[in-house]
Amino acid sequence: MFVSENLNVTSEGHLTIGGADTVELVKEYGTPLYVMDEQMIRKSLRRFHDSMNKYYNGQGEVHYASKAFSCMEMCRIVASEGDGLDAVSIGELYTALKAGFPMEKVGFHGNNKTDEELRFAVQNKVGHIIVDNISELHRLEKIAEDLGVRPNIMFRIKPGIDAHTHDFVKTGQIDSKFGFALETGEAFEAVKEAVSCKNVNLYGLHCHIGSQIFDIAPFEEAAKVMLGFIAKIRNELGYEIEGLNLGGGFGIMYTDKDDPSPFETYLERVSQVVKSECENLGIKLPRMFIEPGRSIAAPAGITLYTVGARKEIPDIRTYISVDGGMADSPRYILYGSEYTAIVANKADQEKTEKVTIAGKCCESGDLIGENMPLQHAESGDIIAVCATGAYNYSMSSNYNRLQKPAVVFVNEGRSRIAVKRETLDDIIRNDI
Ligand code: LLP
Repeated sequence: MFVSENLNVTSEGHLTIGGADTVELVKEYGTPLYVMDEQMIRKSLRRFHDSMNKYYNGQGEVHYASKAFSCMEMCRIVASEGDGLDAVSIGELYTALKAGFPMEKVGFHGNNKTDEELRFAVQNKVGHIIVDNISELHRLEKIAEDLGVRPNIMFRIKPGIDAHTHDFVKTGQIDSKFGFALETGEAFEAVKEAVSCKNVNLYGLHCHIGSQIFDIAPFEEAAKVMLGFIAKIRNELGYEIEGLNLGGGFGIMYTDKDDPSPFETYLERVSQVVKSECENLGIKLPRMFIEPGRSIAAPAGITLYTVGARKEIPDIRTYISVDGGMADSPRYILYGSEYTAIVANKADQEKTEKVTIAGKCCESGDLIGENMPLQHAESGDIIAVCATGAYNYSMSSNYNRLQKPAVVFVNEGRSRIAVKRETLDDIIRNDI
């Protein structure tokens, strides 16, 4: 019934998250409401970094991909676990900086960083800038020279993993806006140029093959390809690449159709591949970085809504309309993503219906999901949508001039606001 281990049900049939009663949360904070379970976030981070220590001899770092869910409180939690951060815009960098995040543990990404963003990253001494293309390298060289510093960089590489073998959304193939292509020789030419740059230090290579991936094999494949390239650079240029960043993308359970591998198994297998490939190729073991986003944030979060209208269309479908929708939960309209929903105040009851949960925005495609098994829901009931901690708040909008919901963190039964609900004045704050 529950897709995340942090969800439970009280004797009155109320859904709980991280020990907090969702019905009480709604009384205190209203709906729509994002709820994040701090202990679940910490547990997932620890599972990643403990396995990295166990299977990769402590030679690795976990950089949480903050695009999945970023706010200052999240940055503080990641920092307190000793992990790093992947940031992809000046906004994410600024959030981390203001939260007191150690910037040397930040990797700065983006396929089209502006000069302002590069300068901000360099001035604030981020650990690595992951350079996406040759013009960015040139611009960064200039900025670094002006500022009199020599930042560490990685190159974003498209490893060109066989698109015919694995059927998932990929970013590692040649037809992608991200990174340097290996097959065409573009990546090697760029490396040749970078090793002779005075103002940047080519520290590592990066790849990210896609998101919500269940199969471990493509990650192993990508690691092999990247190590082959590291060996080529060593053999042909005599240059030692020190860091290998294998990105994120680990799949999670949204509905009971999903069957993700445990993070531990992923890290065990990938670490094994990296170690044995390094031995075969006679190269030094690189420092390994991974960038999980969804797998840290998604299972820790739920979204709570209040049901308004219930509309039964005979022989067609039943619509249950809630007080949010595509503005706070855009993944259904974007990707047709499926979620698990529960009537939070009737969580002990059987799911007797299959319904369409609709939002309140002015378009028909504004749905949370279709054919969703649910307890009988009526006006005034609370609906919890599970595993919404990633790519929901972070992709939310003010469409229809809706106010963005609050984000509440729960921790062993207690709750606190991390992001305030937007007010009507927030809606017009930039209007002249
Ligand atoms: N590293 C890089 C360079 C990335 O581009 C991404 C995600 C990650 C790490 C984290 O990947 P994760 O572990 O979260 O899968 N909005 C989409 C997902 C887009 C992912 C973009 N890049 C969604 O809602 O499914």
